[in-house]
Amino acid sequence: MGEISGKIAIVTGAGHGIGLAIVKALLREKVRVLATSRRLEALKDMEGKNLLLTPADLLDDNSFDRIVSDCVAAYGGVDIVINNAGYGKKMLLVDTSKEEWDRHMAINVRAPFMLVNAAMPYLLESDYATVINICSVVSHEGYPMQGAYSAAKHALLGYTKVLARETFDKGIRVHAISPGGVATEMIQRLRPDLDLSTLSTPEEIADIVLFLLKNRNGAVIDEICVRRHTKEPWS
Ligand SMILES: NC(=O)c1ccc[n+]([C@@H]2O[C@H](COP(=O)([O-])OP(=O)(O)OC[C@H]3O[C@@H](n4cnc5c(N)ncnc54)[C@H](OP(=O)(O)O)[C@@H]3O)[C@@H](O)[C@H]2O)c1
Repeated sequence: MGEISGKIAIVTGAGHGIGLAIVKALLREKVRVLATSRRLEALKDMEGKNLLLTPADLLDDNSFDRIVSDCVAAYGGVDIVINNAGYGKKMLLVDTSKEEWDRHMAINVRAPFMLVNAAMPYLLESDYATVINICSVVSHEGYPMQGAYSAAKHALLGYTKVLARETFDKGIRVHAISPGGVATEMIQRLRPDLDLSTLSTPEEIADIVLFLLKNRNGAVIDEICVRRHTKEPWS
């Protein structure tokens, strides 16, 4: 297993849900973390030597260089990028405006592409370079009422595959985690019919992130698909 203590990670969508759980898990492992999202109040009390908060809107093109330069100024580099921020709204495709379509694409797939490119010079220098993209069950499935979200998450998985192959010989490990229902704000918007107690928890997804980061053996995992325990296997 790899030692991640002291490594430097950027986590997007860090103020809520899965991202917040990932930041807390990384801090427990003594990873140095730059946490970013628009709302970061939940992390204010933990700010300190190993946690830097950079509020940023991923719809703003100036955010990506600023996030990376804040990270490099504070810690001296970037080893790990966790693209967790995401956006999904429940609606029929026929009712989806072009603004909503573009917003889904911008947050779910353009932002990871922009952030990784901004961090690339530092990832190339790192001896532990890793990118983890939080994809979704809808990277594989097409759920009605989630058209723009499904299209964007399919695109994120496609991006993840090509990034993995293009950086393979440069020593960068690229992973996708594709969860089904996780008990967060997002699922309450997309699937208000689901009882939160029947879903996976953000902490369980954070444990999978830690597993991928620590697993530096010869057996590499490209994607982990995660199902809530109440969903039928292979469905
Ligand atoms: N929950 C699920 O069932 C589920 C299943 C599969 C995949 N996922 C994926 O898991 C990831 C985390 O989602 P979650 O469930 O934890 O949902 P969440 O609680 O709604 O968190 C989404 C995060 O994305 C950030 N974000 C959204 N728009 C942003 C913007 N314009 N600029 C910066 N940050 C922005 C939000 O931060 P601010 O609002 O503070 O900016 C928030 O921290 C997403 O990629 C989601 O697609 C979730």
